[in-house]
Amino acid sequence: MSSLRCIECGADFKLETRVYTCPSCAGLLDVVYRTSGFNGKDLRGIWDARRGSASSFDLSGVWRFRELLPPAADSEIVTMTEGNTQIWDAPRSAGYAGIDRLAFKHLGMNPTGSFKDLGMTTGITQARRLGATSVACASTGNTSASMAAYAARAGMKAFVFIPSGQISLGKLSQALDYGASVLQIEGDFDVAMQLVREIAAETPVYLLNSVNPFRLEGQKTIAFELLQQRGWRLPDRIIVPGGNLGNSSAIAKGFHELLEIGLITKMPKLTIIQAEGANPLYRMWNSGAETLTPLKGAFTMATAIKIGSPVSWPKAIRGLRWCDGEVDQVSEQEIADAKAVIGSDGIGCEPASAVTLAGLRNLVARGTIDPGEDIVAILTGHVLKDPDYTVNYHRGKLGYTDSKGDAVALTSRFANRLQSVPADRDEIIAALGIE
Ligand code: F0G
Repeated sequence: MSSLRCIECGADFKLETRVYTCPSCAGLLDVVYRTSGFNGKDLRGIWDARRGSASSFDLSGVWRFRELLPPAADSEIVTMTEGNTQIWDAPRSAGYAGIDRLAFKHLGMNPTGSFKDLGMTTGITQARRLGATSVACASTGNTSASMAAYAARAGMKAFVFIPSGQISLGKLSQALDYGASVLQIEGDFDVAMQLVREIAAETPVYLLNSVNPFRLEGQKTIAFELLQQRGWRLPDRIIVPGGNLGNSSAIAKGFHELLEIGLITKMPKLTIIQAEGANPLYRMWNSGAETLTPLKGAFTMATAIKIGSPVSWPKAIRGLRWCDGEVDQVSEQEIADAKAVIGSDGIGCEPASAVTLAGLRNLVARGTIDPGEDIVAILTGHVLKDPDYTVNYHRGKLGYTDSKGDAVALTSRFANRLQSVPADRDEIIAALGIE
């Protein structure tokens, strides 16, 4: 039997209870399973066999692992065969970080181009189980794109709250195209998040931000699929960007459940990287504080992680403790350069994902990470999510206005400049630099 359990006071609730946080102490909720009946080896065999199946539930990189997911009948499951995202070796990125080898698991290869699809399939499925006809989220762009798509598939109304002018056009265009009602809120993500939580508490609209534990159940399968693709060989370390902190929490929970059922015998290390202008977890973790102090006016050009008051911080802290983890921060310049290096590996990602390589490089330089470690960095969003950022970098025009109102121009160290040439054969050959 599975249930919802408060991570603070331990109170249990039925999975069918429509709550997002603990009604008695406001703590975050986990979906918990009685794992004592599971045998890791047996499950491994079942999960591996499903990869060769023809059923979309088996082929989904989420529902393939359904023994460790909230129960749902086939008729209730809303899936877009999410998951099955590639793990690629990235030799140039490894060289840039100063390590022997590096692999990226690219969650941007999901149906709507980000890891959010993994949590949205379980979130929308739960919405359907509860009889919801409309769903809502606040978003820096990817959650809204994903929720809009899955709600459309399920025939539900989608309301997305986005911080006005602060999300990339690629993501906004997705939410519009998939038919969501898009509300631009005059405020940042943290304001939009607060409002959508209040509105979901008072209305029949079902909340699909990652405070909803059913979202995180889908996202935890990142840990399962990653191991499965590696023949169940545990890496030494996982590196992940930190924004609202749902994903890092989910990945840690996934590994922890595998440990409980004996499928792995130790936890990998977990490194969370934040942008230095949106770094509340970094501040908390490295100061030894007991609670997280929200950061007002968080800023980064990696708009996906421009978050000052991350909802899931208590679960992220729990995950860091389970995983002997650490948190670091990186500058705008470091993010921009790392993104270009990931591009040069023929992989590419959106800016928020590039904090992983930028952070890894710093931690190797400081001697915190051993160059021989077996590391998987998680790329969270597709390169096409934010083409303005990429083109501006390569044009040498990437910059922002800081909190004092001063213009800050970044240096495009790895710029791949666009060339303009007349429509003339000889001039073109000369421009190619070929003798
Ligand atoms: N990377 C990308 C591309 C994201 O879109 C997000 C979060 C993160 C990293 C951070 O993950 O919040 O689980 O720590 N995007 C959310 C959104 C907030 O609304 O799309 P997290």
